Amino acid sequence: MMIEIEKLNRVLLEFYEKEVTVTGLAQAVSYSLKAGGKRIRPILFLEILNGFGIQLSEGHYKVAAAIEWIHTGSLIHDDLPAMDNDDYRRGKLTNHKIYGEALAILAGDSLFLDPYYLLATAGLSAEVTVALVRELSAASGSLGMVAGQVIDMNSEGKQISLKELQELHHLKTGRMLTFPLVAAGIIAGSDTGLLRQIGEKLGLAFQIRDDILDATASFQEIGKTPGKDLLEEKATYVSLLGLEAAKTELDKNLFEVKSLLLAVKNFEAKAVLEIVEQLEL
Ligand code: IPE
Ligand code: IPE
Ligand code: MG
Ligand code: MG
Ligand code: MG
Repeated sequence: MMIEIEKLNRVLLEFYEKEVTVTGLAQAVSYSLKAGGKRIRPILFLEILNGFGIQLSEGHYKVAAAIEWIHTGSLIHDDLPAMDNDDYRRGKLTNHKIYGEALAILAGDSLFLDPYYLLATAGLSAEVTVALVRELSAASGSLGMVAGQVIDMNSEGKQISLKELQELHHLKTGRMLTFPLVAAGIIAGSDTGLLRQIGEKLGLAFQIRDDILDATASFQEIGKTPGKDLLEEKATYVSLLGLEAAKTELDKNLFEVKSLLLAVKNFEAKAVLEIVEQLEL
């Protein structure tokens, strides 16, 4: 069964457009959700369920939307003046540039907390729902993305080791990219150990790629101001290893992801392999 991107976009927006009535909040949240974005996390989740032969339900689209909400919230906060201080995201002005810092912070708060309402109303079994809540909180909160953002901030202007950089990337980006694989595995009743291993490698590759693009791509290509990492003295694969070695690391990790995907049992890997191949530079 094909993934319906229009359905994903509907589920992403309808809670804010239909249920959230407080003045200004839904507009600020919708602005960032509608700004574009590759939707790689929800698409991965849905494609992996598909690969396991699971019939996609409305509830599965809600889980997919929950992932994208947290991711989008993390970008709104990441762009704030107190953090990376960026003016553009997804090719448009950043949330705080349009709505001001206070509402941008609150829009991020909504996008971090509302996902649990969505998960709880997705109609999945109680056991699966609890497992998804645990994984999503661990991926995004103090055990995951938020921890990574703190390390990212503390590492500015410092020379850190490759091991420390890997841990930074694992937490900041890797855990939120691992969630789609593990969540699909939980729903499909598959071996989540292997899926977690694949997700962690994919997450590392994804942030290495983001570091490379910051140094090499144009505004048109990435929809955000390039060259910011160098300017802010961020710890990145490019700053630590140089561009060529960063590219080699990206290739190596993507190759390993593809090999491991072929080892997942009772799984049709084709569509997910195609997503991974699109990350090759
Ligand atoms: C950007 O993520 C931030 C990172 C974790 C590297 P994406 O590259 O997935 O951003 P969008 O969602 O497509 O805008
Ligand atoms: C990932 O790091 C940010 C998040 C975890 C939200 P970056 O700061 O490198 O992401 P971009 O480059 O601004 O998208
Ligand atoms: Mg950042
Ligand atoms: Mg940033
Ligand atoms: Mg970046």
